[in-house]
Amino acid sequence: MTTELLVIEGLSLEFTDRNGERRRPLAGIDIQVSTGELVGVAGESGSGKSLTALSILGLLPPLRDMTLSGSIRLLGRELIGLEGSAWQEVRGRQVAYIPQEPMNALNPTMRVGAQLTAVLRHRQGVSKSGAVQRGRALLESMSIRDPDRVWNAYPFELSGGMRQRVLIAMAFACEPRLVIADEPTTALDVTVQAQILTLLRERAADSGASVLFVSHDLAVLAELCRRLYVMYAGCVMEAGPTMEVLDAARHPYTRALLECRPTIARRGGALPVLRAGAPAPAGACAFVGRCAVADRRCADRPPWTDIAPRDLGGTVSGHRVACWLEQQA
Ligand SMILES: Nc1ncnc2c1ncn2[C@@H]1O[C@H](COP(=O)(O)OP(=O)(O)OP(=O)(O)O)[C@@H](O)[C@H]1O
Ligand code: SF4
Ligand SMILES: [Mg+2]
Repeated sequence: MTTELLVIEGLSLEFTDRNGERRRPLAGIDIQVSTGELVGVAGESGSGKSLTALSILGLLPPLRDMTLSGSIRLLGRELIGLEGSAWQEVRGRQVAYIPQEPMNALNPTMRVGAQLTAVLRHRQGVSKSGAVQRGRALLESMSIRDPDRVWNAYPFELSGGMRQRVLIAMAFACEPRLVIADEPTTALDVTVQAQILTLLRERAADSGASVLFVSHDLAVLAELCRRLYVMYAGCVMEAGPTMEVLDAARHPYTRALLECRPTIARRGGALPVLRAGAPAPAGACAFVGRCAVADRRCADRPPWTDIAPRDLGGTVSGHRVACWLEQQA
């Protein structure tokens, strides 16, 4: 029996930029999320993390001559090509979204309680009194000391951490199967960030929802996610159990990222942006312009290689690397 909730295969996005150049910010992404799993997506700025997340939600920005290809299957249903009202069923009911800046997702003119009640009534069809009761219970489950004050407050009256708590409550209000969190703690200080991560983990465990957690912060991803995807220039470069990817990285890009920050050890710190390099020619390994160990084969895109971990008696753990160095020459 398959437990795959989300299966993304060969996801590619192309558009024409304002200079008339054809661009491909997503170039064949493969990501899978199982039921109840917490999965991380790491990558430096511009690697395509948000565009991947927004593709799953049908919320891509308007882009000139855009083509989205490949496959995004949620609970076996293909999302690419879905039309307007079908997205309403997916968003909120099956997939919820927690963005980095909660103000973008909250209505500034409505009190928190009214927003929570509206979401519950609209998406779940519960009665007004049922929605108030459930909304209050959700807020109380967010470790909020004074839920009455928050219930009656406008979003601007709350701190960033409190607004993010409200958004998490809203995300889980409709019992989604998948929660996509795009840098939800980046703007918060470290203590609040830790509290928010704990709440996210607890709500996911209570509800059985899966979480796709996008971040450039390896420490946060190591803390929260069982599996990790490392993206670079619209491609997944390495994937596998988080600790294995971080402690035994195989891809030159992942290794370079980890080696750049020796003082923060293997698990620490935000992803630095590596030195600039020439953009990769079409069809080549996306990292070729910055890779110190490239060879002739790198003019073609490398296939995935499964890595057998040392400590599991050769059982494939799902640790995979897209690099020619892993292939027999
Ligand atoms: N609305 C847009 N119009 C044009 N280009 C865009 C747009 N949104 C994203 N891009 C481009 O697509 C690429 C991937 O963007 P994306 O926002 O997915 O990166 P990201 O990994 O989320 O980065 P960050 O860590 O900075 O949030 C970038 O090169 C970006 O410039
Ligand atoms: S495939 Fe080649 S260019 Fe790409 S990371 Fe591996 S060695 Fe470097
Ligand atoms: Mg982003």
